[in-house]
Amino acid sequence: MRFPSFDASTMVDGMDKKTRVNHPPAVALPADNRSLVAPIYQSVKFTFDDSAETAKFLRGERAGFFYSRSSNPTLRQLELLLAELQGREECLLVGSGVASIAACLLSLCRQGDHVLGFVESYGPTRYLLQRLLGKFGVRHTLVSIEDRDAIERVLGSEPTRLVVFESPTNPVTKIADLEHLTAQARRAGALTVLDNTFAGFHNHGRYPVDVFLHSLTKYASGHGDVLGGAIIAGGELIESMRKDVVSLGPSLDPHAAFLIQRGMRTYFLRYERQCAAALEIARCLATESRIRAVFYPGLESHPQHALARAQMSEFGTIVSFELDGGYAHGDRFADALEFFSISASVGSTESLVMPPRLLGGPDLSADQRQIARLSPGTVRLSIGLEDTRDLIADLRQALAAAFA
Ligand SMILES: Cc1ncc(COP(=O)(O)O)c(C=O)c1O
Repeated sequence: MRFPSFDASTMVDGMDKKTRVNHPPAVALPADNRSLVAPIYQSVKFTFDDSAETAKFLRGERAGFFYSRSSNPTLRQLELLLAELQGREECLLVGSGVASIAACLLSLCRQGDHVLGFVESYGPTRYLLQRLLGKFGVRHTLVSIEDRDAIERVLGSEPTRLVVFESPTNPVTKIADLEHLTAQARRAGALTVLDNTFAGFHNHGRYPVDVFLHSLTKYASGHGDVLGGAIIAGGELIESMRKDVVSLGPSLDPHAAFLIQRGMRTYFLRYERQCAAALEIARCLATESRIRAVFYPGLESHPQHALARAQMSEFGTIVSFELDGGYAHGDRFADALEFFSISASVGSTESLVMPPRLLGGPDLSADQRQIARLSPGTVRLSIGLEDTRDLIADLRQALAAAFA
């Protein structure tokens, strides 16, 4: 068979084709012609015209990019956006929410330091305090986020490097008193680190929190298809952490950063809509006879409703409750749900459920489980973007099925 225009030459544009595939034709955009969506800089490496400019960059004397583990234009756009939304100067992106917690704790602590943490905090945060930091001689104390006296007692008696907390907490949506906690920490000379994933980037920025952490896997990306994390703080603090975090190597991939940036376009719409649905659902669940208590900060019955109202512009998308019966009822309830998938994570467009058996906390003592309100009846819902009436009907039929 003959190909009429087949070019047998191995050369093209002055180079061998084997060279050409590694130096493809460049396509420049004219200066007055811009792409409306920023391109994905899916490149590990960047180059300057000569070694003098490269050396200048490496000395920090000129702007630019060199290696994507340290910085990349696609990541930079997202860093600037998230820092602005959270009301701080700088942001470091990493590959997951857990990476943001681990990198931050490792960077800010040294041997002999003490950290104040909370019984109600995210499981892997407790693990990091108990196991990883413990291995390097960092001590910690866990108290309840509601126990103001214990917070004051620990901070008053023990020199403390960090106070690491969340608000609302996972899974039963307790609210940290940010004014009290930040004032106590400042008085004691401790830095505050708030995992602000549940409250979102637009909440809590007006409180003097030193470091905000976010899992971008949740509301930022919003669609359950990409992992990411962010450390957001003042410029000086981020500069003091930058080399440590980069050297640990938990980089976010540019394509993941692009997807998260795309998710951020609908962040407010999704978050507000999911919060409104969560409030409606919480109110309905509160009328159900088989539910002993509903934990949602937007309900007047929530013990910290006034605090939540003062601190946040909405009340979050997580609704937890205490179901009658035990693990078997929780399993039957979760199994009967049609629109809530049994899965970890929160903040996606689809609704999720975690039945009591799967809510974890194996490291907690019986007393601590009581403080965290983890019982054989605790169920966590993450509210998605389905029609709210469909979700309520689904929850009602699953309750009926669980107790049939
Ligand atoms: C409060 C909180 N922080 C951090 C994370 C961890 O995020 P990632 O899954 O992105 O590591 C989670 C995940 O569920 C979370 O709920």
